[in-house]
Amino acid sequence: MMGEFDTRLLPATARPDDPAVTQAAKLLRQGELVAIPTETVYGLAANALDPDAVAKIFKAKGRPQDNPLIVHISSLEELPPLVTEIPDRARKLAEAFWPGPLTMVLPRSSRVPDVVTAGLETVAIRMPSHSVARAVIQVSGLPIAAPSANLSGKPSPTSARHCMEDLTGKIPLVLDGGPCQVGVESTVVTLTGDIPRLLRPGAVTAEQLREVLGLIEVDPAVLEKAEDGPVASPGMKYMHYSPKASVVMITGPWSACKDFLARQQDEGVWALVFDEDLGDCPLPAIGLGPRNDAAKQAQHLFSALRELDEQQARLVYARAPFEEGMGLAVYNRLIRAAGFSVIDLMG
Ligand code: TXA
Ligand code: MG
Repeated sequence: MMGEFDTRLLPATARPDDPAVTQAAKLLRQGELVAIPTETVYGLAANALDPDAVAKIFKAKGRPQDNPLIVHISSLEELPPLVTEIPDRARKLAEAFWPGPLTMVLPRSSRVPDVVTAGLETVAIRMPSHSVARAVIQVSGLPIAAPSANLSGKPSPTSARHCMEDLTGKIPLVLDGGPCQVGVESTVVTLTGDIPRLLRPGAVTAEQLREVLGLIEVDPAVLEKAEDGPVASPGMKYMHYSPKASVVMITGPWSACKDFLARQQDEGVWALVFDEDLGDCPLPAIGLGPRNDAAKQAQHLFSALRELDEQQARLVYARAPFEEGMGLAVYNRLIRAAGFSVIDLMG
């Protein structure tokens, strides 16, 4: 046995009497951790109201203590006890996008432990749509704190196998609900200021938020490296999603990228390109997804980064995705995997 636990992997359905769901709910009530599927990425779940249980999340992931967690609920009645105020905008967003891949930052109530919010006066809340996640929340009867179920710094897990790779021995149970449909973490929007602000792009796009809210601001950290000092979303300042290889983003037309890549051929140098360009890529390459389908790119991104590790890539040149719609989320994750290093081949 490796580590403290003999980690079990159980297939799960959404039936409330599914033994895997019952077992997960029981462990959560006992203050233990369980990795669960959500529509975005797998989450590492704990009872959000139990500070000792939540502390185990930080330990299992090796997560910095100043990076706050998202609290997951399964119905709107679970929201009021967690916050001091539900602004009109939050009601509108909930109506439009919950259950689904949207997280709202709201003023927190005193029931939410400090360890969840990293001492902030706000709490991030999400109502997932994945039927297994919803069943686990309902059967446990608890609000569930859950970051992505990866080791801190690694790509987020989009399958139960990814969770097992990272957390075997560290937690008692992983529920397998199949591959994640969205593939990147939820959109995070804060509603605590005068103007709603997008902190992390996801499957609910900036354009969709504007349709419901009118004006929104996009936090500079979405596209650029956050400066030292306080940031709106602490998670944005950490090195993220990185495979072991160094990643460098390349921008420009495919002809220029191809010429560039042809000059980089060396042991362990790989490319991450659109599917259409795999056939004439001069380097060994993995497909990110079709050029004009950001949703597919999002689905593949994290498993592609993990696959590059399995291939023992040393250096990866990744073609920049387009920044519109869901492409903004793909770009945001990839530029972090690249540590913000970009080579511009626009000519
Ligand atoms: O899709 C998701 O959101 C997944 C699944 C499991 O639900 N969870 C997830 O959690 O991505 P995590 O911990 O990997 O990312 C949470 C993000 C971080 O960037 C964190 O800084 C931000 O949300 N966050 C949490 N609480 C916050 C708060 N009070 N104010 C601002 N940002 C907050
Ligand atoms: Mg994460």
